[in-house]
Amino acid sequence: MPDPAQSIQASLSARFGERLEIDASLPGLDDLARIAAHRVIRRYQPRDVTPELLRLLCACALSAPSKSDLQQADIVIVRDKSRRETICELLPEMPWARTSPVFLVFLANGRRVPKLSQMRGKPFPNDHLDLFFNASVDAAIVLANFLRAAEAVGLGCCPISVIRDHASTVSKLLELPEKVIPIAGMCVGWPAEESGISARLSLDTTLHEERFDEGDLGEQIDAYDRRRHALRPYRNQREPERFGRAEFYGWSEDKARQYATPLRADFGGFVRAKGFHLD
Ligand SMILES: Cc1cc2nc3c(=O)[nH]c(=O)nc-3n(C[C@H](O)[C@H](O)[C@H](O)COP(=O)(O)O)c2cc1C
Repeated sequence: MPDPAQSIQASLSARFGERLEIDASLPGLDDLARIAAHRVIRRYQPRDVTPELLRLLCACALSAPSKSDLQQADIVIVRDKSRRETICELLPEMPWARTSPVFLVFLANGRRVPKLSQMRGKPFPNDHLDLFFNASVDAAIVLANFLRAAEAVGLGCCPISVIRDHASTVSKLLELPEKVIPIAGMCVGWPAEESGISARLSLDTTLHEERFDEGDLGEQIDAYDRRRHALRPYRNQREPERFGRAEFYGWSEDKARQYATPLRADFGGFVRAKGFHLD
């Protein structure tokens, strides 16, 4: 068993390019080591995850904190072969959605709370952007909690937001009623790959003291691009026919190219059509 403090240090140094001091007497270092070592897994062993284990993990995930205790997140376990197949066909560029033994969909549920008001004969003057936002945040926290629970028992996961490119189809398939929308899917299975740590922006960029300070963003991004490139360079460049071949192709170039095309511009329309008011 590797020393947890050393393991945390190694993971976070690969992640942020910074050596953090770790007090080896802290409790919970095994938990921190697992969190620090997070990586998505996209290849799985052909071994099932039992329904009992899945239920346990979902219960742990749904133990997440919830805004005002409103409990506006739900999970759908998709087991039915033909339903699963329909989802996989929507995501041909993501074969891991087909090969994972388990596929989940995390939902933002803005329906239950207005129903409570209806059931208890009360007005509900809160049908505005905050209903959508609160439900989405709750669902995202439950998703992250699921990931932590699954990684704790040795499973690997990959969230799949690309299902939202097909939000109406997924919504029909899962029979989602008004004010219930998919936030992301999740592939879950026993890992069949040793994927590496994905470097993040430096803590100088994303961690602020007392007030927001952007610093010299250009310099920080250049440094991050180089650090990340040294660890795991991109294998392919996006749309070289449109943007040419970059001599140095870093994260910022990749993200700028990715977001040079409208993505999910119809999602607001979908959310509104599902009965959320976004004003
Ligand atoms: C909300 C969310 C949606 C994601 N959607 C996808 C997806 O559709 N397809 C995919 O392959 N990975 C997806 N990912 C995984 C990210 O690409 C991955 O977390 C990121 O590259 C960082 O890698 P790491 O998690 O291993 O550190 C998603 C992650 C999150 C949190």
